[in-house]
Amino acid sequence: MLRSRAEGDDETFFSIALQVAAAEARQGHREVAEEMRAEVDKARASSGRGQSVPIQFASPRGSLEGLLELRNPRFNLKDVVLKDELVRRINDVLRQQRKRDWLREYGKTPNRRLLFVGPPGSGKTMSAEALAGELHLPLYVIRLDSLITRYMGETASKLRMIFDETGKRRGVYLFDEFDAVGSHRTATNDVAEMRRVLNSFLQFMEESSATDSVIICSTNHPKLLDRALLRRYDQVLEFDAPTSVQIRKLITGHIGPLKIVKANWRKILLEAEGLSQSEIVRASDDAVKTAILDERRILSTDDLLERLHERHSMRNAFTETKGA
Ligand SMILES: Nc1ncnc2c1ncn2[C@@H]1O[C@H](COP(=O)(O)OP(=O)(O)O)[C@@H](O)[C@H]1O
Ligand SMILES: [Mg+2]
Repeated sequence: MLRSRAEGDDETFFSIALQVAAAEARQGHREVAEEMRAEVDKARASSGRGQSVPIQFASPRGSLEGLLELRNPRFNLKDVVLKDELVRRINDVLRQQRKRDWLREYGKTPNRRLLFVGPPGSGKTMSAEALAGELHLPLYVIRLDSLITRYMGETASKLRMIFDETGKRRGVYLFDEFDAVGSHRTATNDVAEMRRVLNSFLQFMEESSATDSVIICSTNHPKLLDRALLRRYDQVLEFDAPTSVQIRKLITGHIGPLKIVKANWRKILLEAEGLSQSEIVRASDDAVKTAILDERRILSTDDLLERLHERHSMRNAFTETKGA
């Protein structure tokens, strides 16, 4: 260990130090181990070798262009209103990812394949963004339905390219609105193609990735997903309709820079019932905009009620035309 240090071979030195830390941890000396690890992280960062794979926030080029959409994470986890259980589980993933070198020393792979299940507008895409934001990783979004429609017959090979990329460039890869694969319900309605795509997906998910890219699939329709597919995920996270506590949080979190005084929360909560997190945020936002243009600094209960009501009407208009 000392020799490698004397010879300036930092990586060897670090990896020996980590082995010592691991040995300490195995003997129950958690604190010593934790301290050593932190020192190595610091030293690695300062020697500019912190990341084994350079992280670039670059838009994909060449053949990947049009398959992956780079999105800059705008959110952190604290921006997302979620039930405690979800926050805890997302934090667990973050922890495993941040300490993945440590896990690797013990031959463990950090959790990195996640399925987000829940109704539209409940924060699935937002949470994926937050996860990327927390890990300081780029977020790449893949829209499978458009991929399938655009590359009819070649979808599996396009998927291969995407998964290859996850092994080369560490990032969070979000297969948004993943239902297309599981459901056999695409514009093309080609069952054979869907089966091919699904099988490829299953196979690619099994492959290990040296870069520890995080793969997230999001879906509104868990029932349409194949059981074989569900088993492939390290974690399945369920998003729900908002509770009244969450509704209140969503609204108060979005009325800045205005204030609401003597709000009638009973009425507001009643009116917000049945709306998604997304609809509640947008209603709050609309109420705020009106008040700003009216040159008011105070938001009233009625402002909110009106906008929440409006969201219900929009939803009804949509379901009526759909049903017709
Ligand atoms: N749980 C949440 N907490 C805070 N804002 C939310 C939440 N869910 C949705 N939103 C708001 O609604 C928008 C759309 O949500 P999104 O994450 O796209 O929903 P989903 O992917 O589940 O359909 C978000 O950008 C955010 O403004
Ligand atoms: Mg979404």
